Amino acid sequence: MTASKDKEEISTYKTQPAEILAIRDLTDDTRYFKLRCKDITMNKDFQYRPGQFVIFSLPGVGEATFSLSSTPTRRDFIEFGIRKVGSFTEALFKLKKGDTIDIRGPYGDGFEMEDLRGRDLIIVSGGLGAVPLRSVLLYIEDRREEYNKVFFLNGARSPKDMLYKRDFIAMNQRQIIDTHLAVDEDDTGEWPYNVGFVTQLIPKLGELIDSENTTAIICGPPIMYKFVIQELLKLNIPKDQILMTLERRMKCGQGHCGHCAVGGRYTCLEGPVFTYYDVQHIKELI
Ligand SMILES: Cc1cc2nc3c(=O)[nH]c(=O)nc-3n(C[C@H](O)[C@H](O)[C@H](O)COP(=O)(O)OP(=O)(O)OC[C@H]3O[C@@H](n4cnc5c(N)ncnc54)[C@H](O)[C@@H]3O)c2cc1C
Ligand code: FES
Repeated sequence: MTASKDKEEISTYKTQPAEILAIRDLTDDTRYFKLRCKDITMNKDFQYRPGQFVIFSLPGVGEATFSLSSTPTRRDFIEFGIRKVGSFTEALFKLKKGDTIDIRGPYGDGFEMEDLRGRDLIIVSGGLGAVPLRSVLLYIEDRREEYNKVFFLNGARSPKDMLYKRDFIAMNQRQIIDTHLAVDEDDTGEWPYNVGFVTQLIPKLGELIDSENTTAIICGPPIMYKFVIQELLKLNIPKDQILMTLERRMKCGQGHCGHCAVGGRYTCLEGPVFTYYDVQHIKELI
């Protein structure tokens, strides 16, 4: 965390009210939320890294964990992509623009974007994994000169299931990041991009990257990790340069409750970002 100790304590432990500035549907069950802390000084203290997460609380409903999908390079608001799956998210989906949510954080380790400067990057997301990786992508777009070749591979079940479809198509057109979009199945007959699993796009990158100088970043459904990692290892990407976000159910977010422990690791403190090298022998993690 880059914030000073005092600022860190303010932003991490204190719950603060945040106003909903905008809401829009990303897919049938997933919504974009844009928030701003009501206390304007808190916005300045809210320093975070891509890959970190925040805990939302709603009085009488409970708490839930959500990844930041905005970039710390664009200040004064934070963004989220949230899927309705149960009681907390149902209550959240009833809120409107102008309503308030209590938030605390940011928590977790996140991606050390400074350490990736000068490297080739392969960023692979599937489904809801696009939420935290959007933060990485926007950060890189804002500081493009700091990174070498950057490839973004994003997969969804079908065109209507692709989160941030509009943004990612625009990203594909801007070509600041070499973007490749794939759907498992094209039920529209009009999808102009790739059809098939996102893993099929990885071998083509072999000739374009310098393996030793490449870092891969992955986030997606559990089944995706195994196959994406297999393909990345075939490109000779070092195991300690395969970074992935692994999300486990969390409660306190601060290493107190033990809810998120897997194989002796607290994913709220040590994760959610891990290297493949670190977790390759922990069966429950991938
Ligand atoms: C670090 C982290 C980051 C997250 N980021 C996001 C995000 O950006 N967007 C988003 O939509 N969700 C995210 N989640 C998941 C989110 O926290 C849960 O979907 C939410 O807590 C569900 O609350 P609920 O009361 O609506 O559903 P519940 O009633 O609690 O759960 C409904 C169903 O979802 C399952 N479920 C709930 N939470 C999880 C989980 N963490 N892992 C696997 N299955 C789960 C339950 O087992 C159940 O089947 C994240 C979770 C973690 C730990
Ligand atoms: S969520 Fe409580 S220890 Fe990690």
